Parts: sequence; structure tokens; C-alpha cells
Amino acid sequence: RRRLTITDLRKMKVAGEKIAMVTAYDAAMARLVDEGGADAVLVGDSLGMVFQGHDSTLPVALEHMIYHAAAVRRGLARSAGRAHLTVDMPFGSYQAGADDAVRSAMRLAAEGGAEAVKLEGGADYADVIRRIVRAGVPVMGHIGLTPQSVHRMGGYVVQGKDSEKARRLLDDARAVEAAGCSAIVLECIPAELARVITGELSIPTIGIGAGPHCDGQVLVVNDLLGLDGAFKPKFVKRYAEQGASTAGAVSAYAAEVKQGSFPAEEHSFHSKTLRLVHASE
Ligand code: KIV
Ligand code: NA
Repeated sequence: RRRLTITDLRKMKVAGEKIAMVTAYDAAMARLVDEGGADAVLVGDSLGMVFQGHDSTLPVALEHMIYHAAAVRRGLARSAGRAHLTVDMPFGSYQAGADDAVRSAMRLAAEGGAEAVKLEGGADYADVIRRIVRAGVPVMGHIGLTPQSVHRMGGYVVQGKDSEKARRLLDDARAVEAAGCSAIVLECIPAELARVITGELSIPTIGIGAGPHCDGQVLVVNDLLGLDGAFKPKFVKRYAEQGASTAGAVSAYAAEVKQGSFPAEEHSFHSKTLRLVHASE
């Protein structure tokens, strides 16, 4: 068994074979996602929202990404799958300059076990991308809705809906490919624009809220599993209702503990030789 590389993902685009990417933030989930047949795992900075409970990805630190990436790396090492591992560069770890960005990317690769890093931004980040790639770490681009720029975008809104903004996103996609990106995430843009970008680029496009014409798709694993019953944006499809089933399981457990029916005989240990001796004897 061999793990997929960035080269394999590119070959899949050429062959017209779709790429299935899913996020994971811990070892157990990484193993399940890998053995479920995902081609690629992303340790997304979405963990700021779904794991840490923040309402944006801005508070996520490089140390947090390294911690989660290393856990996912260990989970993948114990699994029978072949998924490629990409790790997000969090807010503040690459925007201040290329030297900073190279150091952050190298830590994600060395300490987190990332096989590629992903960063948000278009033509403005060409130099940063070039420098990280030159240091030996493959880079995945990310354009369209870029959650680390939520305040500049004025919310989590679909990007590139008019022709001028769509043209700018196409230019950004070309710029990050020219800078050396190995793949690019297209988030929340019209399907028509994602189709054009996918046709123009020779690197794979991975869509989320970007329609069916991308070379691959990515979903946040919590969304795919339906872990948060209240969160159902248009671009998410739930393949399970694990939020409801988890709450149901805990409520059955709590009821049995209160009734005294758990633990039962089969869950209990016994000793025939045990003699309880009082300290005073
Ligand atoms: O952080 C994340 O999970 C992501 C994907 C949704 C693309 O960036
Ligand atoms: Na992200």
C-alpha cells in the first residue's frame, strides 16, 4: 500500500477521476475517513469553529494546527487507507511575509506531518506560495470565500457573482497555479465560474459550494456526518445524522445509570481472593 501524493491527485484530474477530500481533526476520525476511502484528508482551520467553538477561524494558532495535524498523522499511520494529508496555515501564520510563511509551513510539515499546506489568497500571495514551494512543501491554494478574510468580505457570502469579480477570481486561480500550487480549493463561487477555472487550470480544483464541475470536492466532516443539527448551509449534504444519534445514545446511557441498570453483571469485575481488611486490624 502506498499513500497518494500530490502527483497522484494531479493524475486523477488528467484521468477525469474525481477527488474526494474530507476534513479531520483527531486520530480516530482520521482513521475512519481514510478507511472510508477519502483520497485526501484536510486538517482545516475550520477546527476553530467545529472543534474549539469559536465563531470564526481567526483565533486558530499555528500551535493548534500542529497539535491536530500530528494527531491526524498518527491516526493515518494506523489506518489501512491511502489518503494524502494537507494542513491549513492558520490566520497570522503567513500573511506578514514570506519568511514567516516558510517557517510556519516547515513546522506544519516537520512537526505536524503535513504533506502539503493550504493557504487562503490569490495573486497577492504568489510570492509567499513560491517561497514555500521552493522550501520543499507543496501548497494548495484557496480562493473564493476565504473565511480568514470574513471581516473584509462582510460575512460568509458567495463570491464572484458578477463578471468583473469572476474575472478577478480566474486571474487569482491562474496566479496561484503559476506560483507553483499543486491544487486549489474553490469555496462558495458560482458553478459556472468553477467550471471555467477547472477547465483553465492544469492543477486539480477542489470545490466546496462550487458546483459539480470541480476536479474534486471537500466537506467538513462534522457537516457530512450531521453532527450539528442546527447547521445546514445550502452546499452541505448530510450523509448521516450523528448529532441526533449521539445525543440519543447519551440519553439512553444517562437513563440506565440513573435506573441502576448500567453497569450490568457482564460489565463488572470480581475477585474470589479479595479480603477487605480494616486499617485498625
Ligand atoms: O478549514 C477548512 O475546513 C477548509 C475547507 C472547508 C476547504 O478550508
Ligand atoms: Na480552512
